[in-house]
Amino acid sequence: MSELSTMILDRIRDIPDYPKPGVLFKDITPLLADPVAMAAVVDELAGLYQVDKIVGIEARGFILAAPVAYRAGAGFVPVRKKGKLPAETLEESYDLEYGSATIEVHRDAFAPGERALIVDDVLATGGTAKAAVDLVERAGAEVVGIAVLMELAFLKGRDRLPGVELHSLVIV
Ligand code: PRP
Ligand code: MG
Repeated sequence: MSELSTMILDRIRDIPDYPKPGVLFKDITPLLADPVAMAAVVDELAGLYQVDKIVGIEARGFILAAPVAYRAGAGFVPVRKKGKLPAETLEESYDLEYGSATIEVHRDAFAPGERALIVDDVLATGGTAKAAVDLVERAGAEVVGIAVLMELAFLKGRDRLPGVELHSLVIV
């Protein structure tokens, strides 16, 4: 395992039964609070590709994607939960364990053919990431890849993203 992976794993804590009984929540706040580890994560993600835009997924994806955009010299594009973006939007819905969720992006967030990297904290079932890919492509950008801090392999989210380059700094 790489030094970076170890540094990340050491700073993600398991919270049992949050947000509901039986769920083991991966809390990234110790990582966020460590400036050296956080800088290493941001540098790694920013170095993956040369892109025009870094796309962050609300809410926890924003925390990583904004500094990555700054570091990469790219623009930042927010993908937000429905009803939060003020201008004209495109939307995609996806299934959750119970019910569904809808995310949106501004229709004019990208110039045609711009290269975009999608950044989020965790890939679980892959529903959020898949919806984000579809949204960004519909908005006219080229998705060069998705980068996440942590992939929960047992949920097989990767299988929902065929043909998309997925970079996970840690796979558990
Ligand atoms: C969490 C996490 C990822 C998503 C992964 O977001 O931050 O965005 O779930 O799950 P999936 O792969 O099964 O779609 P969530 O919307 O729960 O909360 P947040 O607003 O705190 O990011
Ligand atoms: Mg999220």
